[in-house]
Amino acid sequence: MLIRRPPDLVPSDITPQEVYARRREFIKAAGGLALGAGLGLDALPAAAQGKATTMKLFGVKESPLSTGEKKNSRQEITEYNNFYEFGTDKADPAQFAHTLVTRPWTVAVEGAVNKPRVFDIDELMKLAPLEERIYRMRCVEGWSMVIPWVGYPLAELIRRVEPTGNAKYIEYDTLADPRQMPGVRSRVLDWPYVEGLRLDEAMHPLTLLCVGLYGETLPNQCGAPVRVVVPWKYGFKSGKSIVRIRFVEKEPRTAWNKAAPREYGFYSNVNPDVDHPRWSQATERRIGEFSKRKTTLFNGYADQVARLYAGMDLKKSF
Ligand code: MTE
Repeated sequence: MLIRRPPDLVPSDITPQEVYARRREFIKAAGGLALGAGLGLDALPAAAQGKATTMKLFGVKESPLSTGEKKNSRQEITEYNNFYEFGTDKADPAQFAHTLVTRPWTVAVEGAVNKPRVFDIDELMKLAPLEERIYRMRCVEGWSMVIPWVGYPLAELIRRVEPTGNAKYIEYDTLADPRQMPGVRSRVLDWPYVEGLRLDEAMHPLTLLCVGLYGETLPNQCGAPVRVVVPWKYGFKSGKSIVRIRFVEKEPRTAWNKAAPREYGFYSNVNPDVDHPRWSQATERRIGEFSKRKTTLFNGYADQVARLYAGMDLKKSF
């Protein structure tokens, strides 16, 4: 996203010089990480030093909320990613994210709730029945995919912690450990990666607490071991590898909103009529297809979610 390119340009056309410079720094750091040079890699568990693996998930039900559209392949979904903690290039997460240690892992749920709790990942995986949800996903950069996620509604977790009357929003933070995530050593974003939702958006049945992909646990580059997925919003709202969910009264400042407030609003609902300041959002390219297709309001989920925004000016609240 920082690379500031509409989908048809190649990086060398428009990538600002300083971003290339940072990328070089990053590659140096990542090379160092691979060799364990000076970054404390020797202190990481052995499993983190090899290739990360995924495990089959059992008892996953099909969901009526899935789209019937053709799915992108596992290879497309796992080799073309945004995960700036591992670099800014789409190929970086697949190459570098194996250093992420996903066990043990906890998610602290805190703030304006009656029952704050720290959930262990194994407890979180079993909190509610797992479903396969095949969702259309649309990135703000102009590409899209159809992805068979596995998870359950985030509302299941929210209900268990009992939000108080002061809980109007949630904010969720990603792990930001420079030992495991070489991109965190760059200043490309103000870490940790933070995203947020209004409480009713977070409680909506389409909003997923996601622990899997294609019937297996999440690959690291896709946000292992647990991420949020919000299919009617641009992909950057779907924070990866989350470690904390906080219930708050005021609209949270999010990572991309802090970096470029004119370009990335809090709501970030997919909307073909609201252009990004530097490119149109009217069309998108589905990864694996040649020609473009029209982008639809709320990414095609208007029937389910439009009521959340009744009476709001979506150009102002972009
Ligand atoms: N979460 C974290 N922690 N760091 C990131 O850089 N990128 C976001 C989002 N979640 C990002 C993140 C963006 S811009 C997109 S488009 C989606 O993840 C991409 O998810 P995918 O790679 O699984 O398709």
